[in-house]
Amino acid sequence: MVRIFFLACLLALPALAQTPDPARVEAVVAASFASAPAGWKSRVTQDALQEICSLTRNQPSAAQAEAITAAAKASVVLPPDSAIIGDWRNGEKIAQNGQGGQFSDAPGTVSGGNCYACHQMALSEISYGTLGPSLSKYGKLRDFELADARATFAKIFNPHVTLACSTMPRFGLNKVLTAQQIADVVAFLFDPASPVNTDTK
Ligand code: HEC
Repeated sequence: MVRIFFLACLLALPALAQTPDPARVEAVVAASFASAPAGWKSRVTQDALQEICSLTRNQPSAAQAEAITAAAKASVVLPPDSAIIGDWRNGEKIAQNGQGGQFSDAPGTVSGGNCYACHQMALSEISYGTLGPSLSKYGKLRDFELADARATFAKIFNPHVTLACSTMPRFGLNKVLTAQQIADVVAFLFDPASPVNTDTK
């Protein structure tokens, strides 16, 4: 009897692991943001790539992944090489600033990059999130190559360039950061004098 019960539970497992009804998920998300201003409704509606990543649990088919990364690459607006690497001091402030992008913000609030919420950058930082990989010594590990700095600009502009179902925000595409701000953050990662590359602890 116990054995039959156990078997029944095992057979039920795949059913439990099924993706919940997407329409129901959408309805719950929309209801949670019911008090958001009207202009914000689009923010809780998934775009095409988010829909694919949700429905496939971040395991898109090769063809889907290829289409997403190709569209992301086409979306990137790179500045001239002379403007890829900005001012690391400004970049550090932007990377460590988690303000902006909330409907409770005072008008005119300049958004930060909030990078520290997901990444370790300089080793001297007291706190940082670990959703993303550590970016410590990022430029040094890449011999401060301009081609890598260019690729990093593109990654920050639209992270889907290298990973179809990236969970990193699309800072350039969604106009969270300006091209100048992205260049300053790239400098924080790529300037040999930046604490990202000089800190030993
Ligand atoms: C919500 C979390 C989150 C935020 C905020 C975030 N990232 Fe990321 N980032 C990730 C994750 C997760 C990855 C690894 C997956 C991927 O490549 O997309 C990543 C990857 C990266 C990479 C590539 C790392 C490698 O292995 O080469 C770089 C560079 C990067 N992030 C820079 C930044 C910068 C700069 C900022 C701030 C402007 C930032 N990220 C903000 C989550 C985040």
